[in-house]
This record gives sequence, structure tokens and C-alpha cells, in this order.
Amino acid sequence: MKVAVVTGGNKGIGFAIARGLCEKFDGTVYLTARDETRGLKAIEELKKNGLNPKFHQLDIDNLESIQRFRDYIKEKYGGLDVLVNNAAIAYKNAATEPFGEQAENTVRVNYFGVLETCKALFPLLRPRARVVNLSSSAGHLLRIPGENLRKKFVDPNLTEEQLSELMKEFVESAKKNTHSEEGWGNSAYVVSKVGVTALTFIQQRKFDCDERPDLVVNAVHPGYVDTDMTSHKGPLTIEEGAVAPLHCALLPPGVKSPRGKYIWCDKKEVDWISGPVPSQC
Ligand SMILES: NC(=O)c1ccc[n+]([C@@H]2O[C@H](COP(=O)([O-])OP(=O)(O)OC[C@H]3O[C@@H](n4cnc5c(N)ncnc54)[C@H](OP(=O)(O)O)[C@@H]3O)[C@@H](O)[C@H]2O)c1
Repeated sequence: MKVAVVTGGNKGIGFAIARGLCEKFDGTVYLTARDETRGLKAIEELKKNGLNPKFHQLDIDNLESIQRFRDYIKEKYGGLDVLVNNAAIAYKNAATEPFGEQAENTVRVNYFGVLETCKALFPLLRPRARVVNLSSSAGHLLRIPGENLRKKFVDPNLTEEQLSELMKEFVESAKKNTHSEEGWGNSAYVVSKVGVTALTFIQQRKFDCDERPDLVVNAVHPGYVDTDMTSHKGPLTIEEGAVAPLHCALLPPGVKSPRGKYIWCDKKEVDWISGPVPSQC
């Protein structure tokens, strides 16, 4: 039995991805959520539409929760075929928390949460598994103003450990309020999503050396979508936002491209290093 997992599936784009997988994926779909009540409510809604998702609690910001979920999937299915790393947070522009705190929380959930989820679940991936990391237009390298920093991100030999160090350096400079002068810009969300995109490239390099054939991971910008995260300002519906992530989750066996790419909401590959940054879908 094939298994697909979506993180943060109780609402927004993750909910639409879970619904799309229920419709198109030939296997069992796990809609996961950090909050059981919200997750089960989402499951009920999909069941009313004749779909049959399963639920498991998963908080990507909690190592025990990640490990419990990993053990459950391993025990019950012995493997995993699709992983959609959708869960993330974003502070509102009007947020009053100090920037250092925003930076720490945003990077911890959006970058380290995804990293830890992958570290736990990647050993379960079966041959031809597909992984989708939800990035953003904010995850384009050119959103980092400092040229010297950008050079570090594009190093083809950058390791996960070095990338994590860069993320920690950003949080430290945000706490000291030196992030702008150090070239990081002024958005913690941007840094976290640039981190997720860079992580994707490193993950594909590792997949290419893995003995399991045809493992593929891509980073996807879903578009500017009408969700709680955007205070419902995005023009796209959650179904439209789910199109590119679903496309990458369901790439056929042996697909030549995209593999380890930065994919826009129109499903096209975008040059992460030189740009240009395309307009929104
Ligand atoms: N909306 C856009 O225009 C847009 C644009 C570019 C990229 N994205 C990316 O697309 C993805 C989905 O965004 P969205 O707009 O659908 O956001 P959303 O409506 O705010 O939904 C975010 C989901 O992530 C969950 N989540 C947050 N922290 C979590 C944690 N620690 N563990 C597990 N789940 C957690 C939330 O759960 P709770 O309900 O419990 O909070 C919720 O289910 C995100 O990665 C976002 O960065 C969105």
C-alpha cells in the first residue's frame, strides 16, 4: 500500500493538497496537523465529499511528535511514497514581537521543522518517492540583499550542517539587530524560505547518491493564495495554490525534470540564482 503525507493539512493550501492527493494518489493519504481537533475536523470535511483521508497528529516543531509519527508509519506501512512539507508560519507585518523572537520562531518552524521532519522520514522513503517542500516567492535567493551571503547559499558543496549554521547566524544577528547591515534584509520569513529552497538542492544531491532509485524532491512556490497566512489577500484559491505542489507530488516514475528544482506556481522551473523572479500566477 502506497502512503502519502501532508504536514499542516488542516487548512489552507495543505488542506487542498491533501484533498487533491485523496482524489489523484493511488494509495493512503495522511492529512496531519499539530492540533488533533482541527485535524479531525478537516478529515470530516473531506469525508463528507466522499474522500477517505487518514489522520495523525504531527507537530513539525516537536521532535517527539515527529518521532511518534515516524514510528507509526514505519510500523504500519514500512515505508513512505509522498511527503509534502507544507506546514509553516508567518508573522503579520503588524506583529509586535521583537524581531529577534520572530526570527527565532520562524526559522525554527519553517526551516528546522522541515529539516527534522525530513531527517526522521527520509529513511522510510521507498524507491520513486516524491518529496515537495513548500517554499515561496519569498524563497528566491535574490530576496537576500547581501552578495556575500548569497555566495554562501549557492556553493554547490554546501552541506545541510553549513546551511543550518547560516540559519543560526541569521537568528543571532536578528537578536543583535545587526541583520540588515549584515545583508540578511528584514524578513525572517524570506530567510526561512531561502533556507528551505537551498535545503531542497542539498537533499536532491543526496538522493542522487542514494541506493534507492528515483528519489525526487522539489521546492515549490504555490502562488499568492487566499489563506489565513496572507490575511486572505492572495488572489488564488487554495485549489489553485495546490496545483504546482500536487504536480510535483505526483511526478511519474523516472521523471527527468524537475528534480531538485525551484518550481513556480505555473509549474515552470525558475532560475534561483540569477532570476528573474517571475510575476505572480
Ligand atoms: N498563502 C500563500 O500565498 C503562500 C505563498 C507562498 C508560500 N506559501 C507556503 O505555503 C504553505 C501553506 O501556507 P498557507 O497559506 O496555507 O498557510 P496557513 O493557512 O497559515 O496554514 C498553515 C498550516 O501549517 C500548519 N502549521 C503551522 N505550524 C505548524 C507546526 N509546527 N506543525 C504542524 N503544522 C503547523 C498550520 O496549522 P494550525 O492551523 O494549527 O496553525 C496550518 O495547517 C506554507 O509553507 C507557506 O509558507 C503560502
